[in-house]
Amino acid sequence: MKIAIMGYGTVGGGIAKVLTANKNKITKVLGEECELGYILDLRDFPEDPFGDRVVRSLDEILADKEVRVICETMGGMNPAYEFTKRILKEGISVCTSNKEVVAAHGAELVRIAEDHHCSYLFEASVGGGIPLLRPFSTTLLHERIDLVTGVLNGTTNFILTCMQRGDTFDMALTRAQQKGYAEKDPTADIEGMDACRKIAILASLSCGASVDIKDVHTEGITKLTEQDFEYAKCNDYTVKLVAQARIAGGVVGAVVAPFLVPKEHPLASVNDVFNACIVHGNMLGDVMFYGRGAGRDATASAVVSDVIDALLHDHEHVFVNLDAVPSLKMDDEQMTHRFFVRVDESEKTKAVRTFGEDISFIEARGVFGEWAFITAPMSEAAFKEALQSLDEVRGYLRVLE
Ligand code: HSE
Repeated sequence: MKIAIMGYGTVGGGIAKVLTANKNKITKVLGEECELGYILDLRDFPEDPFGDRVVRSLDEILADKEVRVICETMGGMNPAYEFTKRILKEGISVCTSNKEVVAAHGAELVRIAEDHHCSYLFEASVGGGIPLLRPFSTTLLHERIDLVTGVLNGTTNFILTCMQRGDTFDMALTRAQQKGYAEKDPTADIEGMDACRKIAILASLSCGASVDIKDVHTEGITKLTEQDFEYAKCNDYTVKLVAQARIAGGVVGAVVAPFLVPKEHPLASVNDVFNACIVHGNMLGDVMFYGRGAGRDATASAVVSDVIDALLHDHEHVFVNLDAVPSLKMDDEQMTHRFFVRVDESEKTKAVRTFGEDISFIEARGVFGEWAFITAPMSEAAFKEALQSLDEVRGYLRVLE
């Protein structure tokens, strides 16, 4: 059984490592050896044990009819998307970690794979090494999933963990870059885009329709201040970039934003580069997945799990619960949260008038000249309207229940 890797970067190199380290185990599962036949990359890797497999053109790989699975670990939209379509149309399965392509074109690619008796699998695109996606198309299929809540970005979780311990944002980002978690251009992570794609994929798999990333309300972590962390610390909260999707049939309300998370909430103790995801099914209740959300070996392990699935179902289609029918966006009136709000000290009376008597004021060590409070549960729409009547809002966060 021959496979190929397109894009020999961090994850691509990790796949070769997993295939080598666990060769005996993989051979036993498949009943024969899985050979890495080709690596598609523009660079040479003279020191690499698989350096002699590097080719420059996809045609060369497709000409070898023994290749049955290609791992797409190129990242970015193109040429990854175009290459994937070509490969699937040849009846060769594709396994990927590329959430950008999956979030935008996943349903179309699954359909092409089905039409050509092969598979498009993307376990590694969400939650790194956590076996999180496959259950949505297998063991959870009969459940009505109505809520998915997760910490889905390893880089920002690492940064927020450092900030919780006293680092400034810049110090924490530098530390994340030194550790190899954050990219040189960390925009997609810190502005929430990466988590937005991931929750769109999870919500799509939950409802079987396609959730457009434009329908996910997305905020990053760059506006958080030291004061936010001080309030969190003094009031038994932590700050996390939370991705959440409410699902009611084909209607989806999804948000990615920094939340205050109560210390006793299971997501509060998900630290550093780890990810976790809580899935709520109508009969099952809550089930929680936890593990390494980023990093070479863990992510590559998830790709290899897909490779094995595709090889075990060679010339068949492995079902994925994804359909091209677009989901509908939930109204802001139906999306409710408590909100943590900070206003200038001159705004106290107005804040009480606007948000009602049942707001709870909270304090933080060393923060003066302002009032901070947590609202009763209210809709996103009502909150937006209430904010309009205040002049000096210093910031706000949603609060996780
Ligand atoms: N940049 C991503 C993260 C990589 O930090 O979570 C894994 O998807």
